[in-house]
Amino acid sequence: TPAAIVLGSRLMYPSHRPRRLRRNASLRRLVSETSVEPRHLVLPMFVREGASEPVPIATMPGVVQHTRDSLRKAAVEAVEAGVGGLMLFGVPEQHDAMGSGAVDPDGILNVALRDLSAEVGDSTVLMADLCLDEFTDHGHCGVLDEDGVVDNDRTLQIYGEMAVVQAQSGAHVVAPSGMMDGQVGVIRESLDATGFTDTSIMAYSAKYASALYGPFREAVNSQLQGDRKTYQQDPGNGREALRELELDLAEGADMVMVKPAMSYLDVLRDVASVADVPVAAYQISGEYSMIEAAVANGWLDRQRTVLETLTSIRRAGADIVLTYWAVQAAKWLRDER
Ligand code: PBG
Repeated sequence: TPAAIVLGSRLMYPSHRPRRLRRNASLRRLVSETSVEPRHLVLPMFVREGASEPVPIATMPGVVQHTRDSLRKAAVEAVEAGVGGLMLFGVPEQHDAMGSGAVDPDGILNVALRDLSAEVGDSTVLMADLCLDEFTDHGHCGVLDEDGVVDNDRTLQIYGEMAVVQAQSGAHVVAPSGMMDGQVGVIRESLDATGFTDTSIMAYSAKYASALYGPFREAVNSQLQGDRKTYQQDPGNGREALRELELDLAEGADMVMVKPAMSYLDVLRDVASVADVPVAAYQISGEYSMIEAAVANGWLDRQRTVLETLTSIRRAGADIVLTYWAVQAAKWLRDER
């Protein structure tokens, strides 16, 4: 009967069985498309001027503002764990309108770069945040004009100086994060003019005005009132990221970044599919804090959640992932082997 024929063919059904390749761990490992390795991870670190003890950051449990000494020790631990790089942020004691601590060779960020350069040398990649917001008393990423508006071109001059001091202090990579127009070009020119032709630029190319930077503001004792919407991108704009990418590549970026990561995986994918340089993504403070808060409540499993998020960011196209879990994740990945 027709019913029996249908049933007969049903016996052979389904003819396609993707589950075959998931049946045990060995098969899953063999066909896995995306890997995360310690070398892909970059650890952002904070160093606080004048601190005699590491200062916990309440909004980022497990992350601290380091003393110069604890920074050195944490950097050694990170290198031993095999992380690919360190991204350093300075937390100065004094802020002023021009963010002068940023260009002072004795400013905390530059001092700490020299410390790390001496401590870990070329055994990891030393990166420096190149931005004024940690150093200004108004908390903006650039200097202000008489009307209180961020002055793009005056800021560029300071970025150019800042890059040279960071390179002199031992940064292998400078990472302009202020979203000023022309920042990559000016930085490249001033590095080249002073002989630092081998210092790389990791451009924060697509950086969105995100609520998820909230915990970072505590991490660097930010003085900011208001927001950064006149320079950081509107979260709804995807195409604009490609324009920013194009400009940064034309200006000489050696690597580019998309930030934040998890809410912008589509942007990351778009950027990674056209960029002909390494692409980084920054899993930012708020992404860290959300997961840590859920873990603290017993709502999520830390290891599985963190490794899944890092895998997702890699799958979307990141060659490099900046994450506050870099050392922890590197240890888990080593133990998994
Ligand atoms: C700017 C800078 C910020 C972050 C990295 N570089 C703050 C901002 O743009 O508001 C955020 C990093 C994070 O949230 O983890 N110097």
